[in-house]
Amino acid sequence: MTGAVQLCHHFLRQQLHLGDRVVDATCGNGHDTLFLAELVGESGRVYAFDIQEAALARTAERLTAAGVAERVTLLHAGHEELSRRVSELVRGVVFNLGYLPGGDKGVITRPETTLASLEQAISLVEVGGFIAIVLYPGHGGGDEESALVEEWGRALDRRQWVAWSMRRTNLAPTAPWLLLLEKQSPAGP
Ligand SMILES: C[S@@+](CC[C@H](N)C(=O)[O-])C[C@H]1O[C@@H](n2cnc3c(N)ncnc32)[C@H](O)[C@@H]1O
Repeated sequence: MTGAVQLCHHFLRQQLHLGDRVVDATCGNGHDTLFLAELVGESGRVYAFDIQEAALARTAERLTAAGVAERVTLLHAGHEELSRRVSELVRGVVFNLGYLPGGDKGVITRPETTLASLEQAISLVEVGGFIAIVLYPGHGGGDEESALVEEWGRALDRRQWVAWSMRRTNLAPTAPWLLLLEKQSPAGP
């Protein structure tokens, strides 16, 4: 396990079961979406968001080639529309932030929309479920986003959420890292 994405996938393998519902908040080239679709199986559902048509097209192609396209609802929308677009509780929400690899590096996830989506995700996730976020402080804009999401995670109610920050300590602090949130109980009074 060399990187934050691999660590995230390791966790997803433990957490997701056949029939689960899960959100890919940033489908990009569709690697994570395909991984999720395989984990939840034919009876499960993946909701996959992206704001770029190119990303959705690449994801659709990958899913079709793997024969799992019917398990996935592709949404050409920002993940800040999460609660408007997904009307059932889900087991988890996965964010892989930053820019589309092989695409326009000027289109990146933004702290204000990422935080708006995270706020919605905390209500959408069922008890026992999770939010997994891979962050990239090494590119312009990603540093600010990473710091703000970390601050947001630190402020979560500890009675409701267990929040883990996972970083490679023998790499530069700008290396990608994983923030993992596990929902322990419903919202307090
Ligand atoms: C690092 S890539 C995701 C990689 C992807 N999970 C994969 O496996 O290939 C980040 C993606 O977030 C998308 N994005 C940026 N802002 C967004 C938003 N507000 N809502 C949804 N997706 C967004 C970008 O278009 C880009 O495709």
